[in-house]
Amino acid sequence: MEGRKRNGFTSRIGFVLAAASSAVGLGNMWRFPYLAARYGGGMFVLTYVVLAVTFGFVMLIAEIGIGRMTRLSSVAAFRKLDRRFSFCGILGLLIPALITPYYSVIGGWVTKYIMVFAAGQNTAAAEDSYFGAFISRGAEPIVYLTVFIVLAAVVVLAGVEKGIEKASTFLMPVLLFLSIGIVIYIASRPGAGDGIRYYLKPDFSEFSGKTVLAAIGQLFYSLSLAMGIMITYGSYMRRSDRLETSVLQIEFFDSFVAILAGMMIVPAVYIFSGGDDRAMNAGAGLMFITLPKVFASFKGGRIVGLAFFILVFFAALTSAISLLEAVVSNIMDVSGMSRKLTTVLVTVWCIILGIPSSLGFGPLSGVHLLGMDILDFMDFLTNTVMMPVLAFATCIFVGFVLKPQKLIREAEAEGAAFHAKHFFSFMIKWIAPIGIVAIMASFIASSFGWLKW
Ligand code: PFF
Repeated sequence: MEGRKRNGFTSRIGFVLAAASSAVGLGNMWRFPYLAARYGGGMFVLTYVVLAVTFGFVMLIAEIGIGRMTRLSSVAAFRKLDRRFSFCGILGLLIPALITPYYSVIGGWVTKYIMVFAAGQNTAAAEDSYFGAFISRGAEPIVYLTVFIVLAAVVVLAGVEKGIEKASTFLMPVLLFLSIGIVIYIASRPGAGDGIRYYLKPDFSEFSGKTVLAAIGQLFYSLSLAMGIMITYGSYMRRSDRLETSVLQIEFFDSFVAILAGMMIVPAVYIFSGGDDRAMNAGAGLMFITLPKVFASFKGGRIVGLAFFILVFFAALTSAISLLEAVVSNIMDVSGMSRKLTTVLVTVWCIILGIPSSLGFGPLSGVHLLGMDILDFMDFLTNTVMMPVLAFATCIFVGFVLKPQKLIREAEAEGAAFHAKHFFSFMIKWIAPIGIVAIMASFIASSFGWLKW
């Protein structure tokens, strides 16, 4: 629908907050802290930040630039730029269309925990079996999944300016405020100092290839890269706004919130477990099983727990909004359908596809795909298989087909400065694709048992 007027973000800060609110999500709140605890504490944090301003920087410039130069979402954008790369555009639609349903299942769990803490059932939630019993119930998690996705859809329905930009400009500051408040509270608990030291002290002996690979993997996840989102958001960005500065600010936000999340979770779990770092390795169980126990052990834990789950909810909701928008915008671009109808259809799709992921923990728990439950399989399919392919193809496309110069010109539009242009060209052509191949190779090698870590 190239002829239709495209609405967009009304200010640079509006764009930055929207993109940052997409980036800041469950990945920051839950995945980052446990990876940091596992892969060398401060060393992991340092590696992550270095990779964010190098790798993350070039990938964000590339994706946002493609969106802004074409004013189209990924399917139509790639088709317009080079038909041979249409498959990239299609992946940029398929990936968020597959992620949103299962991301909303987890968003639904977070919604449930807000209710639990608000209703004062937090002691019950601290019982070992509480979470398992909830997710296996069948209908109840589906109701929460629906509530969560419908809330995201209401924002998407309102459009870019009145929905996404408004919601992000309100929710991001609230999120920061809540995070800082919880960090201060946890830091004031006796014994928190040791936990913070454990989290932030760089342990150089822990540094290895696997630290870098874990950090790159987390970076893609956390910055919402290779899932069509940043192309879509770029397509709504004004040409008069500086790309380079905006990207640096998005990265700052994302890293800052991830580090803050670690500063609440790691010391809290550390105090609770008496320094036993196995407690950090609980995966999804960390947020829904271990943390409620931690909150139950603190004075004022109910309020802090409620604040924590509201925080996670806002983070997850704004990310779900961006995932949904990427799907809706792609379909609107190619079909010319209205935002209203597209949003309704896509929401129904997300609920229908989310149901099996949710039931995989209950009535469908016998179903395993490649040895994984349904939700994990969807996560594997998108994050481990499809996203690296799209990221790699995007680098090759920008580096050798479109040519970095085109994106440099986009970043320098209307006289804007782009200080890191030579760095950008080199990274997007060589270092970024090699890094992505390394992630894929290491994954394949470790799944076949050739690589032990
Ligand atoms: N970047 C967001 C997060 O860190 O949670 C959103 C997101 C990441 C969604 C990864 C989906 C995904 F697979």
